[in-house]
Amino acid sequence: MSHADFVSVKPVFRSEGLHVYIETYGCQMNVGDSEVVLSILQQAGYSLCQRMEEADLILINTCSVRDNAEQRVLGRLDVFRQEKKRRGGVVVGVLGCMAERLKEKLLENPAVDLVAGPDAYRDLPRLVAAVTASGKQINTILSHEETYADIAPVRMDREGVSAFISIMRGCNNVCSYCIVPFVRGAERSRDPRTIVREAETLIAAGYKEINLLGQNVDSYRWTNPEDVSAQTDFAALLERVACINPKVRVRFATSHPKDMGDEVLEAMARHANICRHIHLPVQSGSDVMLEKMNRKYTRAHYLERVARIREILPDCAITTDVIAGFSGETDEDHAATISLFKEVRYDGAFMFQYSERPGTKASRHYPDDVPTAVKTARLNEIIALQNGISLENNRKCVGRTFEVLIEGPSKRSAVELVGRTSQNKTCVFPAAGHKAGEYVNVRVLSCTSATLLGEVVSD
Ligand code: SAH
Ligand code: SF4
Ligand code: F3S
Repeated sequence: MSHADFVSVKPVFRSEGLHVYIETYGCQMNVGDSEVVLSILQQAGYSLCQRMEEADLILINTCSVRDNAEQRVLGRLDVFRQEKKRRGGVVVGVLGCMAERLKEKLLENPAVDLVAGPDAYRDLPRLVAAVTASGKQINTILSHEETYADIAPVRMDREGVSAFISIMRGCNNVCSYCIVPFVRGAERSRDPRTIVREAETLIAAGYKEINLLGQNVDSYRWTNPEDVSAQTDFAALLERVACINPKVRVRFATSHPKDMGDEVLEAMARHANICRHIHLPVQSGSDVMLEKMNRKYTRAHYLERVARIREILPDCAITTDVIAGFSGETDEDHAATISLFKEVRYDGAFMFQYSERPGTKASRHYPDDVPTAVKTARLNEIIALQNGISLENNRKCVGRTFEVLIEGPSKRSAVELVGRTSQNKTCVFPAAGHKAGEYVNVRVLSCTSATLLGEVVSD
């Protein structure tokens, strides 16, 4: 089997020729996909521009996971329509999960010239050319094989410190509330040789952190077609990537509580450069809700997994996702989520109100019957609780020293830098001559619920 050369890792900015402007919404997998799209378009003669006013082609890579994610994109399409009115000749394309969910319906929007689903990106140069020749175009065919394994993504981040690598696509779980399996298709794992190769190229180009991405990394499994006895699971893949260079950090997401075994935790324990952070979405603390959500684990199983993480990796941060107000959620179910948050004491959480998604099992069988005001009140209660816990957890870091990988200037001040600890905690500190890509030891002096504030200390 042949491997493509992962040579170009920085975007090409040109003053002449065709320009593409890309906006990305949704999860990190979409960020990775936009880099694949840019690679494909760069091959076709496009270069990236930073302002839509300069673009011949405007692309928006979209998310369907909650209704508000889609509303934001529809708002942006209005802005692009104005831009098209202002000057002719610009092509507007919708990519990603909304493209896959809404298909032809999106073409009815006067802003939209082309629609391409997550498995159709190789077809983009042809689609764009066809728009110019003969009008609106669409390709939303989902594939069982496409992993874009041979495409060297063109990195769009400015500092060149942390890069995403998709190790798999799609999802085979059918959590009853979730649109992802419908819009991303069946789960496929990518050849580990192409993953390692991509990581090596990034590291050679100076990247200091590799993020391995999948909707459920624990179900990563590659069977070598030339030798079916040679299987690679996620723990083995993680270890191979960690071994490339012990000075380069490795992160991963997302872990699934039903599939995360001890092998992954043991692999982490063997390699200090695998970051001490596990994102383990719980969704609800109530067994009744977990069953109805089709998550395939119980509260007790989840708590057992948390205990195992703490046993094998005592310094590991744990974060989660949670949904408030799923179909039929009672005060008692909600109280179970609250008590679980108090018990686990997460380092952080993404907290959402349930948003019914058309076509999912929940939308067909379980009424969206928790009133919005109740959903909001429950969500606010979870957020307030978690903010307090995050603050208390961060306070425990005050006085301690952490190795921080610097990512760049802080948002608020030109003389301060921002980076993260192995536990994925954001850390802000005076630059003191340091720069992006360096590891520094930072002593934490104070904190908020979201950020550690400190100063660089010598080794
Ligand atoms: N693969 C990951 C999650 C991907 S979607 C996992 O299995 O955990 C990211 C998060 O969005 C989910 O964890 C869930 O908390 C949230 N989410 C998904 N569908 C949702 C919906 N219909 N309403 C509200 N939140 C939702
Ligand atoms: Fe959605 Fe469940 Fe798949 Fe996560 S595991 S993407 S929540 S179906
Ligand atoms: Fe959204 Fe699609 Fe990711 S629905 S969360 S962008 S897989």
